[in-house]
Amino acid sequence: MKPFTTSASTPASSRPPRTGLEARLTARPDGFPTPDHFEIVTTTVPDPAPGQVLVRNLFMSLDPGMLLLMSGGSRLPMPAYEVGEVMYGDAVGEVVASGDPALGVGDLVVHRLGWREYAVAGVDAFRRVDASAYPSPSMHLGFGLVAYVGLMEVARLRPGDTVFVSSAAGATGSLAGQIARLKGAARVICSAGSPEKAAHLTGALGFDAAFDYHDGPVLDRLRAAAPDGIDVYFDNVGGEQLRAAIEVMNVHGRVAVCGALNRQRTGRPDDGPGDLLSVVGKRLTIRGFTLFDHLDRAAEFGEQFRGWLREGSVVYDETVVEGLASAPQALLDLVGGRYTGRTVVRLTGAPVSTPVA
Ligand SMILES: NC(=O)c1ccc[n+]([C@@H]2O[C@H](COP(=O)([O-])OP(=O)(O)OC[C@H]3O[C@@H](n4cnc5c(N)ncnc54)[C@H](OP(=O)(O)O)[C@@H]3O)[C@@H](O)[C@H]2O)c1
Repeated sequence: MKPFTTSASTPASSRPPRTGLEARLTARPDGFPTPDHFEIVTTTVPDPAPGQVLVRNLFMSLDPGMLLLMSGGSRLPMPAYEVGEVMYGDAVGEVVASGDPALGVGDLVVHRLGWREYAVAGVDAFRRVDASAYPSPSMHLGFGLVAYVGLMEVARLRPGDTVFVSSAAGATGSLAGQIARLKGAARVICSAGSPEKAAHLTGALGFDAAFDYHDGPVLDRLRAAAPDGIDVYFDNVGGEQLRAAIEVMNVHGRVAVCGALNRQRTGRPDDGPGDLLSVVGKRLTIRGFTLFDHLDRAAEFGEQFRGWLREGSVVYDETVVEGLASAPQALLDLVGGRYTGRTVVRLTGAPVSTPVA
């Protein structure tokens, strides 16, 4: 068996203890959180023990689902955040010291240890990724696979379908609309929360129609944008948008329920899909999904996605927020509609690189 070595560049004994920031949950919010529900703490980072590695995080993910995990009873198939503990979530970082031959110093890894500048854990907590796969390491945190399985496996997208995507300027929606088009949708209709975002959707992202969901009843806007009805709805939102989509849906239409942003924004249960007689009469399928059931499609998706990026047929929108201390307010701003595309936090020392756009 190969002996364990710690391969940090400076011997541990000759340097001061390494410290890093981490973010912890201070209390469970009742409704929409405030910055007071987070605390940023400086901690001492231990050297890795045998079988462990030490990773310096470069980027970490902000995801609206985190609000549900903060509040406890999220009904998601993953544990809620514990008060007083670091909030977990996706991050990408670089191995800076290794106590296990499976990962070496300089390896780029993704993991779920979340809101911290440094992560130390057993080697199984980390997955090595190809540092040359994307122009920025942050793109390893993208939600393209969510969009892909939602459309292809859950909604069974067919060439010629008319597709509606809500929260289409966001991380998942912006890619869902583009993948629908690349996979042969005849028409892609989108909604977002401002006229500027709607203009971005029909401009840079090339969708056929887009509307601001604040701009009058969604049912009216959707009927006007889809006079021949819709076949697939990629639902990030729920509430009024789901009810309108069901009304406008064609016979044998399919809804992939990806998220519940309306509930995530208000902190209250959603009103639901409305009159189910339309679902019966039109023989609709409404199916929720989580990415974790579909990870076997990652390689197939990654290969296609990198091809689309290379040939310039997909735009990857990303908002980069600077520094861990900015993350709590940025998470609230994300759900408040401030950003477009995938929102990530760049941690101190990470490279400043320009993603594909
Ligand atoms: N099923 C899965 O495995 C999976 C995986 C990842 C994410 N998700 C879920 O998928 C959804 C989208 O995730 P994402 O990361 O792509 O988020 P996102 O769309 O980037 O989320 C932020 C956007 O939510 C919109 N929003 C907030 N409140 C809204 C409301 N009441 N009605 C309509 N839009 C509202 C805002 O856009 P506007 O400016 O347009 O209002 C904001 O920009 C989330 O619910 C997330 O939790 C599910």
